[in-house]
Amino acid sequence: MSVQTESEMRTDRAVWAAVDAEGEREERQLELIASENHASREVMAAMGSVLTNKYAEGYPGKRYYGGCEHVDVVEDIARARAKELFGAAAANVQPHSGTQANMAACIALLAPGDRILAMSLDHGGHLSHGHPKNFSGIFYAIESYGVEKGSERIDMDRVREKALATRPKVILAGASAYSRTLDFPAFAAIAREVGAKLLVDMAHIAGLVAARQHPTPVGHADVVTMTTHKTLRGPRGGLVLSDEETMKKINSALFPGVQGGPLMHVVAAKAIALREASSPAFVAYQKRVIENARTLAAHLEQRGLRVVSGGTDNHLMLVDVTATGLTGKAAEDALSRVDLTCNKNLIPYDQKPPMQASGIRLGTPAVTTRGLAPEHMARLAGWIADVLAKPADESVLRRVRDEVAEVARAFPIYPRG
Ligand SMILES: Cc1ncc(COP(=O)(O)O)c(C=O)c1O
Repeated sequence: MSVQTESEMRTDRAVWAAVDAEGEREERQLELIASENHASREVMAAMGSVLTNKYAEGYPGKRYYGGCEHVDVVEDIARARAKELFGAAAANVQPHSGTQANMAACIALLAPGDRILAMSLDHGGHLSHGHPKNFSGIFYAIESYGVEKGSERIDMDRVREKALATRPKVILAGASAYSRTLDFPAFAAIAREVGAKLLVDMAHIAGLVAARQHPTPVGHADVVTMTTHKTLRGPRGGLVLSDEETMKKINSALFPGVQGGPLMHVVAAKAIALREASSPAFVAYQKRVIENARTLAAHLEQRGLRVVSGGTDNHLMLVDVTATGLTGKAAEDALSRVDLTCNKNLIPYDQKPPMQASGIRLGTPAVTTRGLAPEHMARLAGWIADVLAKPADESVLRRVRDEVAEVARAFPIYPRG
């Protein structure tokens, strides 16, 4: 039973008005935030199901509450699909978020105070990889590697030097704003050499990995974490993969370590998303995501906007807006006025503070889900360049907003009927 589709149940006008307004916003705007996507109706239906009512602390067959026979089936399906899709020996589908997946991995692999070598947040890493106010920075000693000045790419020789110099217990590979292919075998070789475990957080690229459009970390990493709501296009949540031995530690690190009862409605939605991700249509989608990103980056460069590292191998890119005279924040604001949604982002070696930044991060997963193809990327690049060149010119803003609206209408996310 899906609450959303039963309009007579919508008695709470204040909340539903905001939910409907969000639905209209998503339809009206073109979503370029690289970490967002539009989940299928079936995924959303599972999240609105009766499974939200059930407490299921523990794991299938070993629960603390009665009445778990049906949610056990759901979790077993989700785990089996995750293992099959990613070729992993064991999976935990319970993390409420990517951050909680990383917490569980760290608790399983480290003692408090141990050293982690992770990608610097300023160069594209994530808060949960060592920000001083995040659990990772509070409980562990953080060392970081970044990208090189000229190439703006990770140089694995430099990572090795840093690992030899700092002798971490865990090397963490994975990023929120890195557009190049990650070399997991090289990370694994370095981890082996210094006696560290390799933790790969593939939150951003999980969908690409599922569709074999980015090399997999499975088989190289001791533990792989991810979110299920980015390129993987599932519900908001996390997932962990490892071998069976390590999974015993992950399971207890997650519950009772960092979580209580799992969100079984979300676990059901993850199972559905994992099935969707194993279809040929999903492979075609991920190929298109990458093709769109490459095309968008090339057209932006043609229009004089510098793309960090000169392009992209995956679903996202960082665009240096310095030449326009704008900050990343001003660029984000200008684009939001024409219904193009993105986020300001530090670029490597940025001189500006994070709340201003010199760049914007653009991603193609969401616009590709609604059907945009490479031919639309040329128009998209043109709109972005036009708006950033004249962010205060009302006639430019009006024209671009109208053109964006026309494309958004032609490609509805959730067609009616
Ligand atoms: C690389 C990476 N790891 C972890 C996360 C955290 O995910 P969540 O917001 O679900 O905690 C993100 C989110 O953007 C991410 O980019």
